[in-house]
Amino acid sequence: MLSLENINKSYGSLQVLRDVSLEILPNEIITIVGPSGAGKTTLLQIAGTLDRPDSGKVLYDGDDLSQFKDKKLSQYRNNNIGFIFQFHQLLPEFTAAENVAIPAMIAGESRKQSITRALELLSRLGLADRADHKPAQLSGGERQRVAIARALINKPKVIFADEPTGSLDSRNRDEICDLITRLRDELGHTFVIVTHDPTISRIADRIVHMADGRITMIEPTRVESDPAEESDSDQQSTDSANPLPEAECEINPSAIA
Ligand SMILES: Nc1ncnc2c1ncn2[C@@H]1O[C@H](COP(=O)(O)OP(=O)(O)OP(=O)(O)O)[C@@H](O)[C@H]1O
Ligand SMILES: [Mg+2]
Repeated sequence: MLSLENINKSYGSLQVLRDVSLEILPNEIITIVGPSGAGKTTLLQIAGTLDRPDSGKVLYDGDDLSQFKDKKLSQYRNNNIGFIFQFHQLLPEFTAAENVAIPAMIAGESRKQSITRALELLSRLGLADRADHKPAQLSGGERQRVAIARALINKPKVIFADEPTGSLDSRNRDEICDLITRLRDELGHTFVIVTHDPTISRIADRIVHMADGRITMIEPTRVESDPAEESDSDQQSTDSANPLPEAECEINPSAIA
């Protein structure tokens, strides 16, 4: 579904990504972990087309998006890619329902239809009675769920999240993890999540470890369906030079069955 091929990115003389390749499959939850400065956010931004690589390809269903002009790219992004950030970035002057509906309206849907669908989504996420609240009138966990609803409204192929639980307490973290798993299982969404939070890595099908601008290890490799994927992932796993601390490697085997 999404293929990153030999991505390189530098800021001035600092090379932040070095020849990174990664295949993201439909319907999977991937976490990206690694030390601060490893290049995780940069990789997420490039995979999500918010930034462009210096070289390499970002292929969505075979289309190389790094070649798209800005306008076509932002249209593609709005229709196919969802984002969730650590600090939700909701618009303070709009209600929860309006915040969720905005990407649908940008995509050309009527206000009425967009709001109707936003209310359905909020209700699915347990926020039906908060739809008229503005962000300042919501708790941190509620705001993050609104941000998730907003990321889902255009039924994106893939949702990228950068530290989505970073500002939440453990109860809200668990709730967001349950929610992500449910959305993947029920609606078939794909999630790529940068996180320092071992709770999230527990729900991941694969954990991508990064250090110093490279992928150092992918675990566990989900290989049952595609032999080509198997050889790719194997090759990357054997590269492992820099495994992370124990806590970040924690996985629940049932999550990968
Ligand atoms: N716009 C920029 N200009 C210059 N350097 C940048 C820019 N963005 C990121 N960097 C540098 O690139 C490196 C990788 O940054 P990145 O944000 O991808 O790291 P990260 O793995 O997400 O780290 P963290 O866990 O702290 O969020 C860092 O050394 C950072 O200082
Ligand atoms: Mg980061």
